[in-house]
Amino acid sequence: MNILGIETSCDETACAIVKDGITVLSNMIASQAVLHSRTGGVVPEVASREHIKVIIPIIEACFKNAQLTWDDIDLIAVTKGPGLVGSLLVGTETARTLAYAKNKKIVGVNHIAGHIYSIWLDREEEILFPSVVLTASGGHNNLVLMKDHYDFEVLGKTRDDASGEAFDKIAKLLGLIYPGGPVISKRALLGDPKKYKFPRAWLDKGSLEFSFSGLKTAVRRQVEALEKEQGELNDEIINDICASFQEAVTEVLAKKLIIAAEKHDAKEVHLVGGVSANKRLRELIQEMSNNLDLKVPKEISYCTDNAAMIAAAGYFQYKKFGADNWQDIEVNPRLLIN
Ligand code: KG4
Ligand code: ZN
Repeated sequence: MNILGIETSCDETACAIVKDGITVLSNMIASQAVLHSRTGGVVPEVASREHIKVIIPIIEACFKNAQLTWDDIDLIAVTKGPGLVGSLLVGTETARTLAYAKNKKIVGVNHIAGHIYSIWLDREEEILFPSVVLTASGGHNNLVLMKDHYDFEVLGKTRDDASGEAFDKIAKLLGLIYPGGPVISKRALLGDPKKYKFPRAWLDKGSLEFSFSGLKTAVRRQVEALEKEQGELNDEIINDICASFQEAVTEVLAKKLIIAAEKHDAKEVHLVGGVSANKRLRELIQEMSNNLDLKVPKEISYCTDNAAMIAAAGYFQYKKFGADNWQDIEVNPRLLIN
């Protein structure tokens, strides 16, 4: 079964064709990162206008790349939320129109479920349940117990900022480019993670919730103090701040993922979402855990927003619950995972 995935929830216009929820036949992404780096973050109106411009060319390029036609497509899967309402609408309206015009089945997919199913992409070995999944992105940060396909229980979420959002805001504060994660992790390699003692928000004992706003304030205060002392920050100081900040975020993410996995006897732990591209986070989880089976998406392009993961989630959703009516697919910018 070939699934055409469409993803436009934030600042990536993406289209993919995936066979049986696993084999990626084509995965195309038009990123707006350069556009949004000028403003240090996504401007929703700008994002939705850009989606409108590129969505049809991206779908056409996706078919060309896979050397397939509409006759080969069995199901359309489109992100219906969470995300930016205008951006989501471009994707869902396009998908609904295509489902009607081409007489195809359609499913509306939760973007976070999409990230969860990024683990399945191009993977040969079987995934074992229960698994504990850390979804760490710019827009969400959850610990999820997955007992079976499409059987999710949220064990903890963030009380304020998402982890990726914290990377983006600290990058902006330091005058670095958007998105913040890749540039901070690169600079962190050159810095001292012990130089600045930034707080770790463990919250209540055993809590699986997250909070990154206190850390953000602590970094801001440190930057202000350093600027007062010595004017504009040099590269060495910026690198040390990046390393110390990254260590504070990743330590909390890794530790809470391990606590959750042990508490729920997880057979596997999965790390997904844009922040799962972070090498230090992957390393820390391995270092801190006793032989937990950690799985991350097979490609870095499956960590950040993409449509292959939406096609994969759409496949398993369709197998369990069937297709949706194209008339009934509604955008929900605040859609939860359960
Ligand atoms: O999953 P994603 O593409 O979009 C959302 O669903 O939000 O995640 C984007 C987020 C951004 O905040 C970006 O800074 C972060 O993922 N990110 C990283 C890395 N690469 C991307 N964070 C830390 N380290 C990275 N290497
Ligand atoms: Zn995402």
